[in-house]
Amino acid sequence: MVIGRGGREHAICQKVKESPLVSQVFVAPGNAGMADAAALVPIQESDQTALIHFAKTHNVDLIIIGPEAPLLEGLGDRFREVDLRVFGPSKAAAVIEGSKSFAKDLMVKYGIPTGEYGVFSNYEDAKEYLYRKGAPIVVKADGLAAGKGVVVAKTILEAEEAIREMLLEKKFGEASAKVVLEEFLEGEEISLMALVHGETVIPLETAQDHKRAYEGDRGPNTGGMGAYSPVPHINSEIVKEAIDSILKPTAKALVKEGRPFSGVLYGGLIITETGPKVIEFNARFGDPETQVVLPRMKSDLVEVILRLLEGDTPEIVWENEAILGVVVASKGYPNQCETGAVLHGLADLSPDVFVFHSGTAKNDEGQYITHGGRVFLIAAKGNTIKEAQGTVYSELEKVQCDGIFYRKDIGHRAL
Ligand code: AMP
Ligand code: GLY
Repeated sequence: MVIGRGGREHAICQKVKESPLVSQVFVAPGNAGMADAAALVPIQESDQTALIHFAKTHNVDLIIIGPEAPLLEGLGDRFREVDLRVFGPSKAAAVIEGSKSFAKDLMVKYGIPTGEYGVFSNYEDAKEYLYRKGAPIVVKADGLAAGKGVVVAKTILEAEEAIREMLLEKKFGEASAKVVLEEFLEGEEISLMALVHGETVIPLETAQDHKRAYEGDRGPNTGGMGAYSPVPHINSEIVKEAIDSILKPTAKALVKEGRPFSGVLYGGLIITETGPKVIEFNARFGDPETQVVLPRMKSDLVEVILRLLEGDTPEIVWENEAILGVVVASKGYPNQCETGAVLHGLADLSPDVFVFHSGTAKNDEGQYITHGGRVFLIAAKGNTIKEAQGTVYSELEKVQCDGIFYRKDIGHRAL
């Protein structure tokens, strides 16, 4: 049973369904577009009692929790308390995503490379630090803000405005009652995920996300507008360094802190001149990274997870082919957006492309309509990123809808 309703969960369901060990996949609550991959269970991610009851009565053997919110509400703990097998961290371990200041303090304590920072709940103190450090500087809401709580400020005024919105105007509510001011790091950005259980770390292939809403990496930060894997311009030595200096020590640190991690540990990294540094941790699969990483995995994900949970360190085998995915979003995303527009042409897409639904629904006539900020992602494989990119964009021309937009330059940094 997969918990969640986005494109990431659609990709997890699809991958899990391929396993010869699996007879039935459930997704709670899922969305209309993923009925091809799993049986939809109309229970909300936050309804812990109903989820436990369902899992128990349907003899669910393995639960994978997709999004961060239920993890931080302790859903993983609740499942474990009643002896359900779950892949997803405890609340205590998921705090590595839920509190940026916790993550930063942990990194400093254990010597894990990251940028310089300060944590503030007082506006004047934050301002004083800002004027001392100068710009560019990065302003982050401490808590969860769906990938939107980060402002990369080029000027002091821009940073001051962001701090004011977060601390004084409570733009993200409790999540921005504290802010982290962080050194601006320069370099290529990669997402490096690993399957982790205690001190065991099994890295996945790298991906690169495009966080900004508009072409040329401009505009506001979003949950992610497209991604590709692998990241050909980051060599394997650097990836190995990141695994050894970041992922493994972080897993160890969490064990030491009495918060052993079991699930996907996601490092958002910047490859600086002095090596990889962490800009964020997530306690779950990335979205949209998962949609371009899992389709490249030759190994059986379910078998790998089951063995990992039993204390083994299984190897993962990967395909050489590249894959690239483009997110189609509702006009206005990541701000207020209109939904309910009819999507035409989805049925005409080539069977060779992957379509992962995140914010679609069906209207009374059975047509797909937009039903969220990010609507769906189309991904294609190719011998190169360029080839995959060409396929995705020519397929996207078949999709007609007046309520959507997408970036036309996904993959540009690899090209
Ligand atoms: P986050 O939600 O922490 O991943 O931040 C969103 C985006 O802001 C990242 O994907 C980066 O592009 C950018 N960013 C975050 N922190 C930094 C930093 N310290 N230096 C430069 N860019 C950053
Ligand atoms: N794509 C970034 C994230 O999943 O947080």
